[in-house]
Amino acid sequence: MSPKTPKESRTVMTDMVLPGETNPINNLFGGELLARMDRAAGIAARRHSRRIVVTASVNHVAFNRAIPLGSVVTVEAKVSRAFKTSMEVFMDIWIEDRESGLKTKANEAIYTFVAVDETGRPTAVPELIPETDLERERFEAALRRKQLSLLLAKKIKPEDATELKALFE
Ligand SMILES: CC(C)(COP(=O)(O)OP(=O)(O)OC[C@H]1O[C@@H](n2cnc3c(N)ncnc32)[C@H](O)[C@@H]1OP(=O)(O)O)[C@@H](O)C(=O)NCCC(=O)NCCS
Repeated sequence: MSPKTPKESRTVMTDMVLPGETNPINNLFGGELLARMDRAAGIAARRHSRRIVVTASVNHVAFNRAIPLGSVVTVEAKVSRAFKTSMEVFMDIWIEDRESGLKTKANEAIYTFVAVDETGRPTAVPELIPETDLERERFEAALRRKQLSLLLAKKIKPEDATELKALFE
């Protein structure tokens, strides 16, 4: 399997916020954004692996800014690191100003997907080679996030979370 770059998995989904997708104060309902991000990230993971992919974990979501009714929202997803069978997908969420067309960052999120075969068994994915400074930064931090996620899921022991331990040394 030849290595791939983040731009090969880049997935951009743009959609409006409609009345049925808001909370009582007329901002986008969090669960709706989670679903949009899951779809965009799943497509990015599929583009990287060319396999069936399943969501293994939602590692991080920051709802930093409310997204009002009628906003045009863009979810941009790219694979930030590939491990053996799993892939971390990093997402930037943008809102577009109606008059100027300028995009401002609203939120960020990180999901993990696993490539599986037809029986649901994890299967190997291509390596990811980051190209830009931001991609390299996200790539470097991804192992720490994987270990934290596995630790919280009780799938590794604290002593095996070497990247996390290194933070406190
Ligand atoms: C995700 C899934 C395939 C992992 O299966 P598993 O038996 O834990 O398989 P493994 O232990 O071999 O793990 C496979 C990979 O997933 C990673 N992984 C598993 N759980 C993880 C978690 N909570 N966080 C981050 N990575 C995780 C492992 O580290 C491993 O990565 P690697 O091969 O790149 O090192 C399995 O749990 C599953 O099918 N879950 C349901 C997925 C689904 O239906 N999602 C939609 C939810 S509605």
